[in-house]
Amino acid sequence: MSNSTEAGLIHMFKGIPFTIRSSPELLKCLDTFDAREDDVLLVSYPKSGTHWLAGIITKLYNTQVTLTSPIEFGDISTLEELNKLSSKRIIPTHLDYNMLPPNFKNKKCKMIYISRNPKDTAVSMYHYYRDNPNLPTIDTWTAFFDLFLKGDVVCGSWFDHFLSWEEHESDKNILFLFYEDMKKDLPKIVKEITLFLSLTVNDNDIQDICKKSSFSEMKSDTEKENSNPNHTVCALTSNRKLIFRKGAVGDWKNHFTPKQNRRFEEIFNEKMKLSKM
Ligand code: A3P
Repeated sequence: MSNSTEAGLIHMFKGIPFTIRSSPELLKCLDTFDAREDDVLLVSYPKSGTHWLAGIITKLYNTQVTLTSPIEFGDISTLEELNKLSSKRIIPTHLDYNMLPPNFKNKKCKMIYISRNPKDTAVSMYHYYRDNPNLPTIDTWTAFFDLFLKGDVVCGSWFDHFLSWEEHESDKNILFLFYEDMKKDLPKIVKEITLFLSLTVNDNDIQDICKKSSFSEMKSDTEKENSNPNHTVCALTSNRKLIFRKGAVGDWKNHFTPKQNRRFEEIFNEKMKLSKM
């Protein structure tokens, strides 16, 4: 982390690396944030499919909802802006469970956690680091691979993040989703989301929403700027064009050497030995 910290783009908060786009003052104030019972949280470790899920969820409502900026993005004024919103809020966040404002937990707000094969997440994050001026410079995949395994990257360790949320997997107000399941059968997962959010959406509309949420549609909407190019649900950039890269399952096979794969598996098995997933 020393290089990244030196670059002045990263600061540590409660042992977790954040970019300076999340001000320490804001992070300190999160504990006092006032949640509303009807808030929906969209939670992820970066590069797990947050924008994909956000695109789907906003299309499911036929009442007015606001997809806000991530709760940990900006300075204290972000929280004031969030407080002022009169419509229902869909709030994205990359925070781990322990850092989540307690009010969301006490009010049992609905939360959707999306996860992705950490090998693909690592590869996606590597490209994001390379393309995103808000993140420290990374010279090689090998260097990034080491940082990722050490948790020396923004939002900290994938394993710690996942485990912090997985501990609450059986909480009724939390829905766990996987990127790979969405790739395999999107309509099925969208149906699951509608049930969780108590929304009534007919099968034709679900099919239509799935079509409009395909990787190619979302990428081309962003390129044509049919969607706001400055609105992202990731506190690490406001440039939507950096989000839609490849959208594939298994891209890790194009990056991992056999030795890196063995090392990853060893660490995965060790860290995840208590995991149910
Ligand atoms: P890749 O870098 O592997 O392409 P996030 O939104 O959490 O930042 O995640 C970004 C990742 O989700 C990127 O992965 C991006 O391409 C992928 N993604 C975004 N929209 C998608 C879609 N509609 N279908 C499949 N993958 C999508």
